[in-house]
Amino acid sequence: MIEIAVLGFGTVGSGVVELIDNNQEWIRRSVPEGIHVKYILDIREFPNSPYADRVVHNIDLITEDPEVKIVCETMGGKEPAFTFSRKALESGKSVCTSNKELVEALGTELMLTAKQNGMSYLFEASVGGGIPILRPLRNSLVQEEITTIGGILNGTTNYILTKMEQEGAAFDDVLKIAQEKGYAERNPEADVEGYDCGRKIAILASLATGRKADYDEIPCEGITKIAAPDFAYAKAIGRAVKLLGIARKLGDGSWSVRTAPFLVPKEHPLYPVSGVFNAVFVHGTMVDDLMFYGRGAGKNPTASAVVSDVVELAMHIGVPLRSAWNEEKLTLANSDLECHRFYIRAAAEKAPALQAAFSSLEQIDLGGQGGPETAAFVTDEISERTFAQCLGEIEVQNVIRLL
Ligand code: HSE
Repeated sequence: MIEIAVLGFGTVGSGVVELIDNNQEWIRRSVPEGIHVKYILDIREFPNSPYADRVVHNIDLITEDPEVKIVCETMGGKEPAFTFSRKALESGKSVCTSNKELVEALGTELMLTAKQNGMSYLFEASVGGGIPILRPLRNSLVQEEITTIGGILNGTTNYILTKMEQEGAAFDDVLKIAQEKGYAERNPEADVEGYDCGRKIAILASLATGRKADYDEIPCEGITKIAAPDFAYAKAIGRAVKLLGIARKLGDGSWSVRTAPFLVPKEHPLYPVSGVFNAVFVHGTMVDDLMFYGRGAGKNPTASAVVSDVVELAMHIGVPLRSAWNEEKLTLANSDLECHRFYIRAAAEKAPALQAAFSSLEQIDLGGQGGPETAAFVTDEISERTFAQCLGEIEVQNVIRLL
């Protein structure tokens, strides 16, 4: 048996332990000796759990046990996850994680620690929940120059937007359901303000380019300004509202990376992706367009992605796997120069001011159903800077970019 330890017995950690037990038969096709969870580290006790006897509270028990070969970090947050992961790597154990916050902020350092100690650091579950996306990027697509990557990267917000659009549900009610279903972060602000999506697109851009994209430099907007009329106006122009994280290589070699709600057209493969599902769109210069689709959050899909790393690590004991990116920083483009068409929703009385400010505005017609008090428009393709200059001090209710 290959012995492993799981750090954190929350939604994902408990899913990992259960999956390893339940799917042992399938795991043994790749790891014939089998995989066994020897320790579960948590500050809590779980007296009613069938795994109660494996729960420990001291990381040293794990790092000092030479039988433990792999550590799964499913604690979330930067600390103590970082310290525990580093300690595990320094103690000769490979580590895998679902912790996107840690991977984005300190993954470079942990990959270096892994390399220095002949170990590996993997994080398939940090992006796209159950979707296999990092492994294809590390393996199947190594020969490709990737020029676009991104898509719907947060299950909670896609679930909220879908329920608001299809059922007219209220934002707070749907968020509560997403929390109950185990989709949302402990602090759901990370989901709804776009931070989680921002971290995931930073990880994807880093993997695609081999250089570290800095999350703090990525413009980030969430979905808290989206309201019922936005769905109606979007539908009237054949589009749906989706929170996207997108990274694109520009002509000068720099990368444009952004997290924001977009109006996605019907013809685009991301348009029908609804509910908790995520989809990652990739363009490679040779392979052309690819899309990876699956459940972006939830206990079992995320646990499945974590265990895929455990199995890969178990198949490579003593063989360190290549780091996903190096320490070089990815240069991001000046986001002010990025061009889009913009949707603007405003009080009807602002319409003359908007029409005077923008040289060309197309009004969205809801056939009289939008009510007399609101108006919505779409601009021509203009830069972020020009848009901000034209809008000036005019007060609007919402602005969304068109994909
Ligand atoms: N809160 C995250 C989401 C969990 O909703 O996508 C998966 O990373």
